[in-house]
Amino acid sequence: MPGKRIAVIGAGVSGLGAIKSCLEEGLEPTCFERSNDIGGLWRYEEKTEGGRPSIYKSVTSNTSKEMTAYSDYPFPDHFPNYLHNSKIMEYLRMYAKHFDLVKHIQFLSKVCSVRKHSDFSCTGQWEVVVEAEGKQESCVFDGVMVCSGLYAHPFLPLQSFPGIKKFKGQYIHSWEYKCPEKFREKKIIVVGIGNSGADLAVELSHVAAQVFLSTRRGTWIWNRVWDHGMPMDTILFTRFNSILSKLYPTFLINRWAENKLNVRFNHEIYGLQPQHRFLSHQATFGDDLPNHIISGKVLMKPNVREFTETSAIFEDDTKEDIDVIVFATGYSLSFPFLESDSEILDSQRSMFKFVFPPQLEKPTLAFIGIVQPVGATIPTSELQSRWAVRVFKGLNNLPSLSGMMADIRKKRKKLAKEFLNNPRDSRRVQYVDYMDEIASEIGVKPNLLSFFLWDPKLAMEIFFGPCTPYQYRLQGPGKWAGARGAILTQRARIMKPLRTRILTCDQPPFSVPFWLKSACAAFLVFVLIFSHR
Ligand SMILES: Cc1cc2nc3c(=O)[nH]c(=O)nc-3n(C[C@H](O)[C@H](O)[C@H](O)COP(=O)(O)OP(=O)(O)OC[C@H]3O[C@@H](n4cnc5c(N)ncnc54)[C@H](O)[C@@H]3O)c2cc1C
Ligand SMILES: *[C@@H]1O[C@H](CO)[C@@H](O)[C@H](O)[C@H]1NC(C)=O
Repeated sequence: MPGKRIAVIGAGVSGLGAIKSCLEEGLEPTCFERSNDIGGLWRYEEKTEGGRPSIYKSVTSNTSKEMTAYSDYPFPDHFPNYLHNSKIMEYLRMYAKHFDLVKHIQFLSKVCSVRKHSDFSCTGQWEVVVEAEGKQESCVFDGVMVCSGLYAHPFLPLQSFPGIKKFKGQYIHSWEYKCPEKFREKKIIVVGIGNSGADLAVELSHVAAQVFLSTRRGTWIWNRVWDHGMPMDTILFTRFNSILSKLYPTFLINRWAENKLNVRFNHEIYGLQPQHRFLSHQATFGDDLPNHIISGKVLMKPNVREFTETSAIFEDDTKEDIDVIVFATGYSLSFPFLESDSEILDSQRSMFKFVFPPQLEKPTLAFIGIVQPVGATIPTSELQSRWAVRVFKGLNNLPSLSGMMADIRKKRKKLAKEFLNNPRDSRRVQYVDYMDEIASEIGVKPNLLSFFLWDPKLAMEIFFGPCTPYQYRLQGPGKWAGARGAILTQRARIMKPLRTRILTCDQPPFSVPFWLKSACAAFLVFVLIFSHR
């Protein structure tokens, strides 16, 4: 059925990929974006606006450019590996222009509600109410892709902090924080040690009189800059490691990782040591944090027991005078436009592979970018979109309700076993595993065995190199002729922005001896043949 009309809610990175995927499959997307521009979270604005994501001025990606790209549109080779938000915006604008996406977006149009159309059970259509210029209008769509993001509704657990009402200083959520200038010479406590908490503590400590970083459970700190100075995700997120992690027992991986992180600085001495093991909870990026702890600008503290008018009292009975509290306590997931309808999402927000609510009679509603990959969002969302549009078109089918529920329960069990019981972890997936799972649905997972036979050079890079998004454009629907080239040149694109002072006669830092490569390749072909039987 050509020309199905699809509503895309939001023009952030997920929405842009959704529009592109619709166009690729010959569907007609209309994207509604409540603000006046693309980019979502990545578009820095001086002012916050309720219900919209907001970032601080210095936000720099924690996923590297080769791992963060759309699968058929690599970042320019001169872009740095970790990208300031303005660079991501530049890339998004190039992407939108290249694929001519903007003409499908209606700006300043807020989706107020999404309801099943009266004959939903036979057509699968939706009634979408959109508010623009103060007027509400209702339109009917054959499918809806929800790309409204995860970071618009700050979570501020004030009830867990007795005395906060008495506190005379200022308190804010990290969502409101923009830049450090206003906090000059203040005594500041940052509550929470996720990526934002660690970032803000470091940034504020450049100007503050003192920064305290309070954490209930501690965290493992890992770095953007990994061994030999390479981007962490390009070294760790490989197919080779993904297989190793299945062969090795979890405790060994934990021990390896924790030892490695403790070699850089001892987490116990630095007051960061968590109770949980490395793999049970998302680690925090903190390239700079140990430098600021060792210079005393950031002091680690346990959980706050209560606030007084001018101070914080911690669980170890210490007391510190403070002027400002920054709650880096995360966000809650919310879909205000679906609120009225409990038929769409159950109380646990069950979704088949984190995309399709299972209990709908027709699979015409997809949630894009709700999953929290340990890895980049752009390629994950994009692959979800490519799958969703094929399901909308009837080219791929979903299992029965009971089949989907069984899969959801299985995943929940696995998560409960592997991760702490934390709401943020309930949608956590390992990057390579999840990408391969969705790719298998579409038929775009690279067939390694055949690549090893016909294109060993490419196969080696696919297997040992970073699992970059281009791998999912090598074969099957949506195949891109540039994919092979993009994979074989990815290391050059990683090196390019670093080589701003070129030395003569240097050696490529990646060189693995040829004999070792051949031995690994032989071993691999053996494993693959074996596992295919
Ligand atoms: C500080 C920070 C750093 C991060 N760093 C990284 C990183 O390095 N790498 C990475 O991969 N991910 C990172 N993330 C995750 C980030 O969420 C994703 O990269 C990405 O921004 C998600 O895009 P999205 O399109 O799903 O949502 P968003 O970027 O939030 O976009 C959603 C869009 O939907 C619009 N919208 C919402 N509701 C409606 C409605 N009712 N009607 C119309 N429009 C609506 C919003 O205006 C917005 O434009 C980071 C997140 C944070 C908070
Ligand atoms: C990057 O930071 C965001 C925001 O804190 C987080 O949601 C995401 O999981 C981080 N990415 C990785 C790979 O840890």
